[in-house]
Amino acid sequence: MRYGYFDDDRREYVITRPDTPLPWLNYLGNEDYFALISNTAGGYSFYQDARLRRITRYRYNNVPPDYGGRYLYIRDGSTGEFWSPTWQPIRGDLEKFLCRHGLGYSIISSLNQGIAANVCYFVPLGENLEVWDLSLTNQRDKPAELDLFSLVEFALWDAQDDSTNFQRNFNTGEVEVEDGVIYHKTEYRERRNHFAYFACSKPLAGFDTQRADFLGMYQSWESPIVVEQGRANNSIAHGWAPIGSHHLKISFVPGQMHRIIFLLGYYENPEEAKFDPPDSQSINKQFIKPIISRYLDPDLVDNAFENLKLYWDQVLEVINVHTPDEHTNRMVNIWNQYQCMVTFNMSRSASFFESGVGRGMGFRDSNQDLLGFVHMIPDRARQRILDIAATQLPNGSAYHQYQPLTKRGNEAVGSNFNDDPLWLVLAVTAYLKETGDWSILEESVPYDNRPGSEHPLYDHLQRSIRFTLDRLGIHGLPLIGRADWNDCLNLNTFSSEPGESFQTVEIQEGDTAESVFIAGLFVLAAREMADLAAVRGLSNEAAAYIQIAQGMEKKVIENGWDGEWFLRAYDHFGQKIGSHQCKQGQIFIEPQGICVMAGIGIDNDMARKALSSVKEHLNTSHGIILHQPAYTRYYLNLGEISSYPPGYKENAGVFCHTNPWIMIAETCLGNGNMAFEYYSQINPSVRECISDVHRCEPYVYAQMIAGKDAPTHGEAKNSWLTGTAAWNFVAINQWILGIRPTYNGLKISPVIPQDWEGFTGIRIYRGVTYHISVVRKGPGNRVSLHVDDDYIDGDIIPIPPKGVEDVQVQVTLS
Ligand code: BGC
Ligand code: NOJ
Repeated sequence: MRYGYFDDDRREYVITRPDTPLPWLNYLGNEDYFALISNTAGGYSFYQDARLRRITRYRYNNVPPDYGGRYLYIRDGSTGEFWSPTWQPIRGDLEKFLCRHGLGYSIISSLNQGIAANVCYFVPLGENLEVWDLSLTNQRDKPAELDLFSLVEFALWDAQDDSTNFQRNFNTGEVEVEDGVIYHKTEYRERRNHFAYFACSKPLAGFDTQRADFLGMYQSWESPIVVEQGRANNSIAHGWAPIGSHHLKISFVPGQMHRIIFLLGYYENPEEAKFDPPDSQSINKQFIKPIISRYLDPDLVDNAFENLKLYWDQVLEVINVHTPDEHTNRMVNIWNQYQCMVTFNMSRSASFFESGVGRGMGFRDSNQDLLGFVHMIPDRARQRILDIAATQLPNGSAYHQYQPLTKRGNEAVGSNFNDDPLWLVLAVTAYLKETGDWSILEESVPYDNRPGSEHPLYDHLQRSIRFTLDRLGIHGLPLIGRADWNDCLNLNTFSSEPGESFQTVEIQEGDTAESVFIAGLFVLAAREMADLAAVRGLSNEAAAYIQIAQGMEKKVIENGWDGEWFLRAYDHFGQKIGSHQCKQGQIFIEPQGICVMAGIGIDNDMARKALSSVKEHLNTSHGIILHQPAYTRYYLNLGEISSYPPGYKENAGVFCHTNPWIMIAETCLGNGNMAFEYYSQINPSVRECISDVHRCEPYVYAQMIAGKDAPTHGEAKNSWLTGTAAWNFVAINQWILGIRPTYNGLKISPVIPQDWEGFTGIRIYRGVTYHISVVRKGPGNRVSLHVDDDYIDGDIIPIPPKGVEDVQVQVTLS
């Protein structure tokens, strides 16, 4: 069952009814000002940091769901009836409803009682504000007199404090209203220089800024007293709960359209010019007023919207493919890339499932997100790498998270996830292969943000590798620490207190709990370091990294193999995890994927066996699950993984992030059919037709799909913010379609399904546009390259001489 359809020409997903199985979200904003918006206008906005600079309030886990948003109320002056043109919060019957989620904008339109409403929400490029561009049209054959009310509820900046500290917060709220603009200025009198504003392009009949005056003390968002009565209270909030609401009275002749623009924005005044007059307590509005008047001009709004579209044209023109599969095309060309941008921006901080207060930027998450983003805006990727590396600790380890506003490691979440530092190597080498910008390696980057501790970025990479080597266990495999990629495989924590956080509880010392996954990741990273050293002419260093990688590979083969698949780990007591000898958790997906990706076992048949075990034991029609059998009780020595009921999350759910590792591994063995089958199983666009089962948005990946042990097998959760986005993009684009940046040029090495006759694609790489056409002449993956007028040996297109802008690439597969 579907709740909408893809409009690929407009790059939109069109939702045709408001009551989707879950709120289906989109994101607005590009760099600093961000907003979440659902198909019924729910969601919230923040500046840079969803926790520390929350602009509007959202009621997580509310009943009904998705409360708090960018709301409008339309009231018919002649009958007193009113409705929400975006459905929420009133949720009445609308005669027509449509939500178009596009790239950086959402348009919600409806028709009710002869009044058509169309509102386009977006954040103009480079601005810290959002536009609500509303058109109302009277389709009746008689005149109409309407009251229009807008509504936002302001959050008192720190979202954590906002939802807990009421003894103070009910006393601090302050606003100003001037020339029809509502300014939210709570705490501006003291240590904040920032304020929010809510403006409207038409003259007001009134306004409200105190929630209780707008709603009525015991009334709800569905029937605010002000809307019922058709008259604003002109309330000024003192303490309690500041809101912003404009009241407009609008007359329509038949067929008439009115366009009304609302602006919600954030501004920071210079400390020395906070107040106007200087000795007063009123906000200095001299800097913000010109911005407000600019964006209340419809022509400028049109312009800004066009610019947003052009921006996305440019971002997406870097990679564009045309394959025989429409799901692949729309994910690669539109939605998967869009999701990669969002995960790059948000990390795991703010979604329908992430409250914005729990998490900052993850070290491993952000490094992996970068893999799917680096081709889009390399400069931003560069800055991100430097920010992440600056939080690395001097011994090579990492804070697990840092706050985007301060860019400092988050002490409260701590460290000791021993895989973390290795992901930095993957991110930096991906950046170098994409850009060829060697200068980044010389950038001077501090450790733990401490002035005076600066070293070249390359030194950070070396310390990442060293960190693992300094922490090997009794089998010569890397110690796991608190956990590795699987945050819930907590082999050293032994948590028995209810409510204790598995992420921060004290960990046991010891050299027994070892991770085969980290071993595989280490081999992958050490081989990347060897390649990097080799292209820089550091041949001794390259040889040393090769040796280190081989040493670890040997340990994996000796101590990390279970007979039919790779082991997962050794626990604190030296017992095997992920072995046929275990009662539960006999086989895990992660080491099978990462070890084969690292090249382990390709020569000796282990890789092939491992992947066929994955297929036999872990594959389902909804994706590959994390392990089998699921844990059916809590194990003190395993931790959070066994805290979930079977089939959910890390306890044998389809943890989508890991599926592309298997796809890539299959391509390493030349199995295009299998790789593509795995790709399609979890492709959201393929799953669109089972939206009633899948339930999350059909245009983006979710972190998890319930595994076969769960009663809700096939139901997705935690959509949008997941490393799945980046890794699936890498799997399809670089390994299945095989268009892969290398230090020496673009490599074309497709491992596509046998029944594909080929595909075409455009790839802009280091300033050159490659027009690629792949034609299958035989069943295998052997590549013959014809570049412009020449046949080329191998599968790498050499970087053309300066001045060449277009290169024609003919690829024959046989
Ligand atoms: C989740 C993990 C997540 C971890 C850290 C756990 O509860 O299951 O997926 O990585 O929390 O936030
Ligand atoms: C989600 C976390 O963000 C990520 O860092 C982790 O690797 C996975 N969960 C698996 O536990």
